[in-house]
Amino acid sequence: MARDKIALIGSGMIGGTLAHLAGLKELGDVVLFDIAEGIPQGKALDIAESSPIEGFDAQLLGANDYAAIEGANVCIVTAGVPRKPGMSRDDLLGINLKVMEQVGAGIRKYAPNAFVICITNPLDAMVWALQKFSGLPKSHVVGMAGVLDSARFRYFLAEEFKVSVEDVTAFVLGGHGDTMVPLTRYSTVAGIPIPDLVKMGWTTKEKIDQIVQRTRDGGAEIVGLLKSGSAYYAPASAAIAMAESYLKDKKRVLPCAAHLSGQYGVRDLYVGVPVVIGAGGVERIIEIDLNRTEQKMFDKSVESVENLCKACIEIVPGLK
Ligand code: APR
Repeated sequence: MARDKIALIGSGMIGGTLAHLAGLKELGDVVLFDIAEGIPQGKALDIAESSPIEGFDAQLLGANDYAAIEGANVCIVTAGVPRKPGMSRDDLLGINLKVMEQVGAGIRKYAPNAFVICITNPLDAMVWALQKFSGLPKSHVVGMAGVLDSARFRYFLAEEFKVSVEDVTAFVLGGHGDTMVPLTRYSTVAGIPIPDLVKMGWTTKEKIDQIVQRTRDGGAEIVGLLKSGSAYYAPASAAIAMAESYLKDKKRVLPCAAHLSGQYGVRDLYVGVPVVIGAGGVERIIEIDLNRTEQKMFDKSVESVENLCKACIEIVPGLK
């Protein structure tokens, strides 16, 4: 059986890390695409040269032509620009929206059967636009945010409780970062919900509130330390977990920015919710009851996503 083909659209910091992880995990052959000449080719060759040492077999190819992604099973999109000093969010939105237009056309032409994972920011609006530009089924276009936010949350909780990260689960809803909605009553250590752990004296409510805030600011904390870029190891790991669940039909339950058509009372927007990812793409959207506080946070998150999508429509009126 031929290997799966993974196309990475954007070969910057996250794109390169994605290629390395896809190789190490033997997920398939990898195509790195970018508009910058030499970067995808150089990264592809460098990673391919690590394969005899790491012991993986995969073809790695760098390209500046969309034809190279032909027939990809998975496309992971990181193409775009990060915000620079002096730029407004609208500037960033406008530039990355145009990038999504090009990427969408490339995917539509060469990889219409792919499962597409978008990472480019502002995530919830970019994945919404990418689905429209590409015309791919909504079940096959998702955004990566919740897996990263919940991984950060899990890591901080594991540190607080001094237990293995493997035994901590976290449940988050809503948009990426600022408007993330952590559901502490569904976040656990080996099945014990956090509110119970507070009652058991393992931690305090104040400490949990601090961890939630640190999780929301997780991206900014890394930017503050790196100074010249944003996080790439954890975002790449998160997208690879999503790709793996699709390629291996694992049916993992993962928080993703998924297209809602009435679930949680939301229509035609991408919002972070728990979904099942398997060979059919997003196979199920899990809808849970929210209490009043959670609903309020969720509504605020949806409102901010809606405003970003409206800004996209102002730039490209045909997007509706
Ligand atoms: N088509 C293809 N690639 C493009 C295009 C385009 N139209 N425009 C820019 N790129 C490429 C750049 O050449 C660069 O190599 O996208 C890559 C982006 O890489 P980085 O700047 O290193 O950014 P990275 O850290 O990988 O993050 C990518 O993910 O988390 C988000 O906010 C982040 O939007 C950003 C994206």
